[in-house]
Amino acid sequence: MSDVILSVSDLHVSYGPIRALRGIDLQVHAGETVAIVGANGAGKTTLMRALSGLLPVSQGKAIFLNHDITRTPTHVLAHAGMLHVPEGRGTLQRMMVEENLRLAWEIRPSADSFESARQEVYQRFPRLQERRHQLAGNLSGGEQQMLAIARALINRPQLLLLDEPSMGLSPLFRHEVFRILADLRDTRMGILLVEQNVRSALRLAHRAHVLSQGVFTASGDASELANDPAVAAGYLGHGKLNPTL
Ligand SMILES: Nc1ncnc2c1ncn2[C@@H]1O[C@H](COP(=O)(O)OP(=O)(O)OP(=O)(O)O)[C@@H](O)[C@H]1O
Ligand SMILES: [Mg+2]
Repeated sequence: MSDVILSVSDLHVSYGPIRALRGIDLQVHAGETVAIVGANGAGKTTLMRALSGLLPVSQGKAIFLNHDITRTPTHVLAHAGMLHVPEGRGTLQRMMVEENLRLAWEIRPSADSFESARQEVYQRFPRLQERRHQLAGNLSGGEQQMLAIARALINRPQLLLLDEPSMGLSPLFRHEVFRILADLRDTRMGILLVEQNVRSALRLAHRAHVLSQGVFTASGDASELANDPAVAAGYLGHGKLNPTL
């Protein structure tokens, strides 16, 4: 298909003798949200870090917008339009909200000014506008997650990688994060989403993969996977992932 943004084939990643990913095949199309779900230690973060140039790939290939990015550094990928919001967020704690946004914008300055990019972000995140002169480190966990997503969005990504965006958040902020993701899903942006909140992730995504010990054990339409008895039994018991399965 012509609108493939990301195409991953036979990807392997190891930590010394530990083979964390063992042959991952994955595609994300423009306008598509793809969820990766799986137990703790399945390899989800490893996949995100390998795709965004933070971990070396031992075998296989990743293509982003027709360029081989298998060994491309993170900042080059960000400049090209692939933005990663890491697990644990990664905002600049000792800088103000607005400084965080400006430094992020400078990674990929567009024809538009910072002013207009900032306005666009504040429309989506009014709370960040209210807190624009506060230090990022003084924001609540939920607000910091908003800021982390906003820092990626200010670069107008073509592909957004999100690693556990709702982790550790109160129900109110979790709901807010998923509301924002639902808005983003309906744009031309591609989204690769890792989430422990499997029920919400499958409700949001178009397609999904279940990752277990470094391989995909189930793949398909997210709604079909949500109704798959094995997936339901393993991951939807209480609306959250059951790490024993
Ligand atoms: N820096 C590292 N050195 C050695 N092994 C690692 C390292 N990071 C991760 N691993 C191992 O690789 C495997 C995959 O870990 P990864 O963090 O990708 O899992 P995950 O699916 O993101 O888990 P979680 O749900 O807990 O975030 C695990 O067995 C983990 O112990
Ligand atoms: Mg992880």
